Amino acid sequence: MSTDNLIIFDTTLRDGEQSPGASMTKDEKVRIAKALEKMKVDVIEAGFPIASQGDFEAVKAVADVIKDSSVCGLSRALEKDINRVGEALKNAANPRIHTFIATSPIHMQMKLRMEPDAVLEQAVNAVKMARGFTNNVEFSPEDAGRSELDFLCRVIEAVIDAGATTINIPDTVGYNVPDQFGLLIKNLMERIPNSDKAVFSVHCHNDLGMAVANSLAAVQNGARQVECTINGLGERAGNASLEEIVMAIRTRQDIFTCDTRLDTTQIMNCSRLVSGITGFAVQPNKAIVGANAFAHESGIHQDGVLKNRETYEIMRAQDVGWADNRIVLGKHSGRNAFRSCLKDLDIEFESEEELNDAFARFKELADKKHEIYDEDLRALVSESEAQLESELYKMVSLKVCSETGEIPEATIVMSIDGKEESSTSTGSGPVDATFKSIEKMANSGAELKLYSVNNITTGTDSQGEVTVRLELDGRIINGQGADTDIVIASAKAYIHALNLLENPANRAHPQHADV
Ligand code: KIV
Ligand code: ZN
Repeated sequence: MSTDNLIIFDTTLRDGEQSPGASMTKDEKVRIAKALEKMKVDVIEAGFPIASQGDFEAVKAVADVIKDSSVCGLSRALEKDINRVGEALKNAANPRIHTFIATSPIHMQMKLRMEPDAVLEQAVNAVKMARGFTNNVEFSPEDAGRSELDFLCRVIEAVIDAGATTINIPDTVGYNVPDQFGLLIKNLMERIPNSDKAVFSVHCHNDLGMAVANSLAAVQNGARQVECTINGLGERAGNASLEEIVMAIRTRQDIFTCDTRLDTTQIMNCSRLVSGITGFAVQPNKAIVGANAFAHESGIHQDGVLKNRETYEIMRAQDVGWADNRIVLGKHSGRNAFRSCLKDLDIEFESEEELNDAFARFKELADKKHEIYDEDLRALVSESEAQLESELYKMVSLKVCSETGEIPEATIVMSIDGKEESSTSTGSGPVDATFKSIEKMANSGAELKLYSVNNITTGTDSQGEVTVRLELDGRIINGQGADTDIVIASAKAYIHALNLLENPANRAHPQHADV
């Protein structure tokens, strides 16, 4: 079978960020973008620059550092949006502008209050404007999945003539089903006279749980770009999940006539990074990246797999990055061993100071936990990076009393802007008491929207990784902390979230500003 290239367009940093609670800071977006580049994603949609100053800066920061993937920014079909994207992508090695306008009757009448001809004209003008910045221009007729075929054909033909090089067909509300969506792509490609001048792409939402199936049906009918996100993150029920699309295509090369250039061994790394940063846990039975995706419980299955792995496994766990969790270091390991283990995990530090800071944390951890695994090292490095972001509040010490029949009490000493203060509170449990004592001093008024704990490795001496989501005046922030003591991990996560709230760059949800 001939194999075409299927372009993987990742929109975790744009559509993924539109999930309520999934907002990311500029530094977090850069970290995820670097992991996507390493995985060889073709296009990274980094954000929606007109939405806010914060998102403009995040897209710019990603465009400044990513060299091996194309970096894309989203814009409505408006001059001010396109100028803003052009500015954000100024230093990108391979910039792409993605512009969109809705074409379905309901969106044109109720949302845009525009006649179809005016929509077509605005689409064409936007594509021409975008071509003034780059010859890599993508156009999306928003809500294409509910648009009229004749009108869709007219718009697409006109924007290809105007210079669009990728035509993306979004099922914006996740309304389509596989046979019908596949046929839509086939019809468009057959009916539009200049369809061979552009790559056809799809962008499917998961409202009916069919985003991946719809995307794959489109690929079988000629689409050669798929828009997707890590862990299926995205607006409402999410987008098509990148790992499921990529592994379906790779595993079923007997039926697909295309493949991606992705390094699939990086999938788990990206999945963990996105889940850690956003606080969106991955369900255990999630395909490819869920904790049980390669676990065999029943005796018959275990017996079969021991005799021949392929009896019950269609993919190899290591091909998607599920390495056996190796014990890599212990309390006697030195700096060189530490540095070399991080190198094996492709973790690099920008400065000697960052390495020293991480090494000091490693020594502290190794005193409490004798065997340090790959996952512990990853968490430790994420924590060092989080700490460097902003440091108005620092935890100095924490004392918690919890006893059956007694009311839990926590006393925390924090340094606030360099000055040490302490406070004591009681609560319904040790974590509640700790958060109350922190809040007594910080007085942020933020509302706790999510508190989640995950163990990083197995065993009772494992580190707990905590996410704390705070909301203040419509801003939603995720803080993270890790420690072998989950109350301390919780305090670290709360303090991290407070520091993020203090940073003006994180003040508004990057994509929820009034545009
Ligand atoms: O779902 C959608 O229609 C989108 C477009 C902006 C492509 O996200
Ligand atoms: Zn979308």
